[in-house]
Amino acid sequence: MYPKQISIYEVGPRDGLQNEAQLGLEAKVQLINGLSACGLKRIEAGSFVSPKWVPQMADSTAVLQQIERQQNVTYSALTPNLSGFEQAIAAHVNEVAVFTAASESFCQRNINCSIAESLRRFDTIFVAAKAANIKVRAYVSCVLGCPYEGAINIEQVAAVSQALIDMGAYQVSLGDTIGVGTPQNARQMLDAVSQRIAPQQLALHFHDTYGQALANILACLDSGISTIDSAVAGLGGCPYARGASGNLATEDLLYMLHGLGIETGVDLQQLANVGHKICQQLGKRSSSKVSQALMN
Ligand code: HMG
Ligand code: MG
Repeated sequence: MYPKQISIYEVGPRDGLQNEAQLGLEAKVQLINGLSACGLKRIEAGSFVSPKWVPQMADSTAVLQQIERQQNVTYSALTPNLSGFEQAIAAHVNEVAVFTAASESFCQRNINCSIAESLRRFDTIFVAAKAANIKVRAYVSCVLGCPYEGAINIEQVAAVSQALIDMGAYQVSLGDTIGVGTPQNARQMLDAVSQRIAPQQLALHFHDTYGQALANILACLDSGISTIDSAVAGLGGCPYARGASGNLATEDLLYMLHGLGIETGVDLQQLANVGHKICQQLGKRSSSKVSQALMN
């Protein structure tokens, strides 16, 4: 049975913009304000990573300072280490997200350390977050394939996910970083992870590189999952995963979920307008089919 409601975790301002041409501060702030006005309740607003690694996110403190905060919206940011966590707290995020991978090679290229070392770094974040009463979300990348290693063992995905939950993550987001999954293996991977972790503590984070993200979500939708990550206009990708094009577009996800009678609390037409504007500012066409149809 499909769920009655799905919580959308909007990653456009982070995952989206980290892989696009640099955008001005004001445009980022307007984007986030526009997203919250559409009814999105969880927005990843920035990333406290090295500005040498990802210059697009260097102004995350200013972004978080300048947005108009809505009471019932959770604004989060990526934090790879304690330094990132401290910056995020100083910028008054509501929660943070740590990120590692099921692939050693990807972990090295993305955060310059092994999976085991990434977990040790996160340990310090979990301790500090508990003291500050801040929730921690966690990402596992390459759950359906790695740009450097190819196929990934789903038991490794399950083991890394479990380690993160055991450390205190309230949710693990399963990232198909390069969008190579197809419905059957996406579901098999989710079922393997669900053997160890309740589906309510999992989220799906599928990139749409091969146009499979929506089909993969549908294949996983009756599993008890309640959170799906997506990006307005299908923006983005990971700069350390060559060929990783955009995330699943939030507009396309909403259209499918609403068509299935699943509530999201998000206004699709309003979101399409926000997506249209950001694409104009970036000088690109929206990769959301639904947006292309609605804004025609
Ligand atoms: P490193 O070079 O090993 O770190 O990078 P280090 O501790 O040796 O420090 C090197 C320099 O970085 C120093 O500066 C530090 O101060 C600075 P310097 O002395 O050279 O001037 N530094 C920092 N600056 C700002 N904020 C920080 C910070 N930490 C160190 N938090 C590090 C290690 C993790 C920092 C680096 O590898 C990094 O920033 N990586 C980020 C890569 C990234 O952001 N990737 C994209 C996000 S992940 C993703 O998109 C996947 C996801 O969407 C899920 C999916 O799709 O699968 C989440
Ligand atoms: Mg991603």
